[in-house]
Formats: sequence, structure tokens, C-alpha cells
Amino acid sequence: MAFLEVNNLYKSFGKTSVLKGVSFSLENGEVLSIIGPSGNGKTTLLRCLNYLEYLDSGIVTLNGQVIQNGETIKTMKDDEIRNNRINFGLVFQSFNLFPQYTALENVSLALSLMEKERAKKGLTPLYDKPAEEVARELLEKVGLKEKMQNYPCELSGGQCQRVAIARAMALKPKILCFDEPTSALDPELTGEVLKVIKELKETTKMTMIIVTHEMEFAKNISDKVMFMWDGVVEEFGTPTELFNNPKSENVKTFLQGY
Ligand SMILES: Nc1ncnc2c1ncn2[C@@H]1O[C@H](COP(=O)(O)OP(=O)(O)OP(=O)(O)O)[C@@H](O)[C@H]1O
Ligand SMILES: [Mg+2]
Repeated sequence: MAFLEVNNLYKSFGKTSVLKGVSFSLENGEVLSIIGPSGNGKTTLLRCLNYLEYLDSGIVTLNGQVIQNGETIKTMKDDEIRNNRINFGLVFQSFNLFPQYTALENVSLALSLMEKERAKKGLTPLYDKPAEEVARELLEKVGLKEKMQNYPCELSGGQCQRVAIARAMALKPKILCFDEPTSALDPELTGEVLKVIKELKETTKMTMIIVTHEMEFAKNISDKVMFMWDGVVEEFGTPTELFNNPKSENVKTFLQGY
């Protein structure tokens, strides 16, 4: 059994069916890029994996354990949902930083809250050092040593996105998801964020799922690439398979646009 198994996910919004039987699997440490035209359910899939939307049906297992089941999700207790949700981290297109907190606080406060919750439940802490120290190390890792005391409004988009990446990393997710992490950025800032993601892959071997329209980046960083079309996985394979030798006409047409 693979590290992550996503099985037959369905999700509709009212009469709009968005996910229509999405299935794929991923090994530990692999990076998956999700590509495909607008409106095909890429964001919805990430939001479902992160419990920001509830599946209608389908099953997600991680390390052999069911962490989501569309049949039972609506009756799950909040605590159970929180426990399952933290397996995933999500970096949003628009950063979602708290404007009233510094870069350092944005990273350390999320972790402090998590550590408090763990202590309340009698769980061992995620780290054996204070949240602020962890936050400093992570911000340094994403190249923001000099910007820790700055507020989001004093940072560039690329810097904000790097804070958001450090914040997601701080909670030690088993899988880190990115939803078009550079699409809100000016082209000259895109490279710095992509470089940080690439370094994270190399230094942490973290499993990642990245929705992106940056085809060169996807080709470069991914172990697997998945093309979504009309709410299903139309093609899945290695970057070489998908980019150099696509089987589906839809993939071919899509790639011609780049
Ligand atoms: N909360 C919602 N309520 C109703 N419809 C929604 C909601 N979220 C998404 N949708 C619809 O679901 C479909 C898929 O949207 P989604 O955002 O997942 O696409 P996407 O593949 O991420 O597109 P893009 O590349 O433009 O980001 C769209 O038709 C969208 O309008
Ligand atoms: Mg999207």
C-alpha cells in the first residue's frame, strides 16, 4: 500500500459536480504536481484533503490509516477532524498571513497554539525547543533572517509567501500542499519562491502536492505529475511520461498552450 492513497473522491457544490471519482497514490517523500485547465477541481481537491471542504464520498488513507471517509465525515467530532487535518499543511495562493503579526509571530503563534493543544491532550510536544526558536530557524531556512520583525505589509509578495511556507512547515505536516504558490506574484518574485520549495524538497524530503501552472517547475521538481480534467485524473505519470510523451489528447492540447 502506498503512503497516501486517495480513492474515488466525489464532491459537489449544489448541482455542480466538481470531483467525480478522483483516485491516485503517492509514496513517502514524493512530490506530486497537479496541472490542468482552470475550473477542473484542483483547488477543490486540495481543500478536501485539508478538510476545508467535506467530501461527499471517497476514502483517503495515510500510512495505511483511514484519515478521511466521505461517508462518516459529517458525523465526525471536531477533535477527530482536527487530529486528521494536521496530517496536511496548505500554502495558499494569497498567503493568508495575519496582518497584525510580524513574520516571526505569524510562524511562532500557530506552533505555540498547536503545542498548547498537544500538552492539554497529554501528547509529546512537536519540538523540544520553544516555538519562537523553531520559527527563527524556519524563517532563516526560507531566506528571511533579516525580515523576522517585519509585518506582512512591509514584505514583498514573495517574502510573504515564504513566511507562509515556514508557517506551514512549523506544524510538521506529513504532506505539504501548495495551491498555485506563485500565481499572485510578479514574475521576478516567482523564482525565489520556487527555489525555496525546491530546497525544501532536497533538504527535508517532505511529501508535497503542488497545484501549479509553472510547467518548467513541475517538470523539474516532480516525481509524479497528474493532469486533472473534468473532475477526474485524466493522466498520471512521471514528468517524462506526461510532458514528453502524453497519451491523452487533452494533455497534449493543454501543454501546447505553454
Ligand atoms: N465553494 C464553492 N461553491 C460553489 N462552487 C464552487 C466552490 N468552489 C469551487 N466551485 C466550483 O468548482 C469548480 C472547480 O473549482 P476549482 O477552484 O477547484 O478549480 P481549479 O481547477 O482550482 O481552477 P483554477 O485553475 O482556476 O484555480 C468550478 O466550477 C468552481 O466554480
Ligand atoms: Mg485553483
